[in-house]
Amino acid sequence: MSNARARLLVAEEDSQLALPGLDSEPEWTWTQVEEETTLDRFEHTTVMREETVRALAVRDGGTYVDATLGGGGHAEAILDAADTARVIGIDRDTIALAAAGLRLARFGDRVTLIHDAFGNLESALLAHGVGKVDGVCADLGVSSPQLDEAERGMSFRREGPIDMRMNTTDGETALEMIARMDDEELANVIFKYGEERRSRRIARSIKRAHDNGELHTTLDLRRAIVRATGPVRHGGVDPATRTFQGIRIAVNAELDQLEALLAALPKVLAPGGVGAIISFHSLEDRLVKHAFHVRETWAPLWKKPLGASADEQTANGRSRSAKLRAARLIDHSVEGDP
Ligand SMILES: C[S@@+](CC[C@H](N)C(=O)[O-])C[C@H]1O[C@@H](n2cnc3c(N)ncnc32)[C@H](O)[C@@H]1O
Repeated sequence: MSNARARLLVAEEDSQLALPGLDSEPEWTWTQVEEETTLDRFEHTTVMREETVRALAVRDGGTYVDATLGGGGHAEAILDAADTARVIGIDRDTIALAAAGLRLARFGDRVTLIHDAFGNLESALLAHGVGKVDGVCADLGVSSPQLDEAERGMSFRREGPIDMRMNTTDGETALEMIARMDDEELANVIFKYGEERRSRRIARSIKRAHDNGELHTTLDLRRAIVRATGPVRHGGVDPATRTFQGIRIAVNAELDQLEALLAALPKVLAPGGVGAIISFHSLEDRLVKHAFHVRETWAPLWKKPLGASADEQTANGRSRSAKLRAARLIDHSVEGDP
């Protein structure tokens, strides 16, 4: 099956996905029934690909976790870097997993795909019989297809349901969260995760729209936000940007997930193993910086985070806010380490 014609065949509830290169026991199942979903349009430009592989010091025989598999770009780079390296790829998004499965099929049993949230890293590896690993990378946030597909509800530029979940098979949608929260809770989400100063006014306007039966699509949500802020763009940024980001982070518990991932790293890495995390906003980067500052546990690879090269920033605007932090788990059996 060529990538261009590849189809994710989804039949009945709990059926296993038919993926080339994956023919063993079901690792994950599909609970949402869809007729047929094309995967050939899954396009995401990998950020800081080479830098991540270098940080992980990928070697033959090593086992690496890509905790945010997405389109499989980092995983592919790791597998290409050493002929007998293995990758455990994790994603909470079934479409991403399926797309990455197709892209990585040529590596056969060097790849294991797991449908889970990386906050469950330790138990997910245990459940799959994976012992200590040599490196874990995570490229945080959402993929381009998640942002671009209207039906994911993450973009205020496209009309779609107010969903925003990365894992569309589980949990509360953004609309359900908005309905559940009172004005103050919603304002706190918008302020804390969106870093939006006008959070109270915006939250009131969103709740009013909801209570009046006017909140059905992402464009309705944007309208409610703009009603509170006015249409003026500050520094070219749409007035709905911060609120959408805040709601998305809350719906997916993104910072709780990151904290759980950072707490799991010392438990799943072999001594001397490397954790490499790419973050895209200060809320995430602060958590990573803080975790890697524990001197008895980590030897950071660099003092300051690494940014994307000038060339990459020109070619891919998204890479401009990327920060890669990496640290090696100190090997206490080696005298004088670090
Ligand atoms: C920026 S994309 C990764 C792109 C990938 N590195 C590539 O080059 O193709 C981030 C991915 O991480 C996934 N993700 C985000 N948070 C997650 C979490 N807590 N658990 C598992 N996957 C997560 C998203 O579903 C998305 O597919």
